[in-house]
Amino acid sequence: MKNNTLVEVKGLQKFYDGKKSLFLPSKKITAVKDVSFSILKGETFGLIGESGSGKTTVGRMILRLIEPTNGSIVYNGESLRDLSKKDMAALRKDIQIVFQDSGSAFNPRKTIGEQIAHGLQKFGGNKDAQYIHKEVLKMLEVVGLRSDYFHRYPHELSGGQRQRAGIARALILKPKFLVLDEPVSALDVSVKAQIINLLINLQKEFDLTYLFIAHNLDLVAYFCDRVAVLSKGEVIETASTKDLFRNPKHEMTNKLLSSILTLEGDLGQVYKKRTVI
Ligand SMILES: Nc1ncnc2c1ncn2[C@@H]1O[C@H](COP(=O)(O)OP(=O)(O)O)[C@@H](O)[C@H]1O
Ligand SMILES: [Mg+2]
Repeated sequence: MKNNTLVEVKGLQKFYDGKKSLFLPSKKITAVKDVSFSILKGETFGLIGESGSGKTTVGRMILRLIEPTNGSIVYNGESLRDLSKKDMAALRKDIQIVFQDSGSAFNPRKTIGEQIAHGLQKFGGNKDAQYIHKEVLKMLEVVGLRSDYFHRYPHELSGGQRQRAGIARALILKPKFLVLDEPVSALDVSVKAQIINLLINLQKEFDLTYLFIAHNLDLVAYFCDRVAVLSKGEVIETASTKDLFRNPKHEMTNKLLSSILTLEGDLGQVYKKRTVI
């Protein structure tokens, strides 16, 4: 492993037992068949594939929210699967996730402020209530939300605002690595661009490394340094963004690329700009 590698996954697999009843023969469901890639410090690595290709399962296995069936995950030189619960909890500060569906990612009965504060209360060093309150207010500002959003409930926010709150919650422990699981897929085009720009600025400000998960290549040209294309639980192509766009090696990659050519407006312009570099 090169010392500028932050995350390395190798031979990752996840099988589920698809058995519906005790009396039926078991049917193995393959969610992830064979996934290997490494992510360099400071880069944005795209993991792209159709719905059901295993992207979320991979993202969650890296955080150990899902236990892999096989394979290794090395983060900053440490094998995550060998860590005790306690050591993994310590690493929780470093590795965070932003979920696709900001609606269900938040508890409807708790305020946004309480939910952003949760990570600090659970894993932070300083548990002083006033300190935590101040940190949450600072983080709201960082993601572009006014301080009065602290006391609002998730349903009072728009999708874009909720995703900003999701980013604030992920950043509150000052992580180094973020898994972004389709963070803008559910948003309107103009809001999409705002959130992606926010993520780009935050990456610079906080020295972050991203795994960006998406079901098409719309934003990849603009956002990612390198990309792995996932199909039916397997990585079928890994390339720099530029090479992938110029010279896609796989039929599925072409299919994912063709969705962009129909894009209009800002994103279509961005695509054109990047591909003539
Ligand atoms: N808990 C589970 N039990 C059974 N099958 C699952 C489970 N989670 C995911 N799968 C299956 O694994 C495959 C990959 O799912 P997922 O990682 O969510 O894909 P993606 O995020 O690319 O849409 C899908 O076919 C899905 O139905
Ligand atoms: Mg998914």
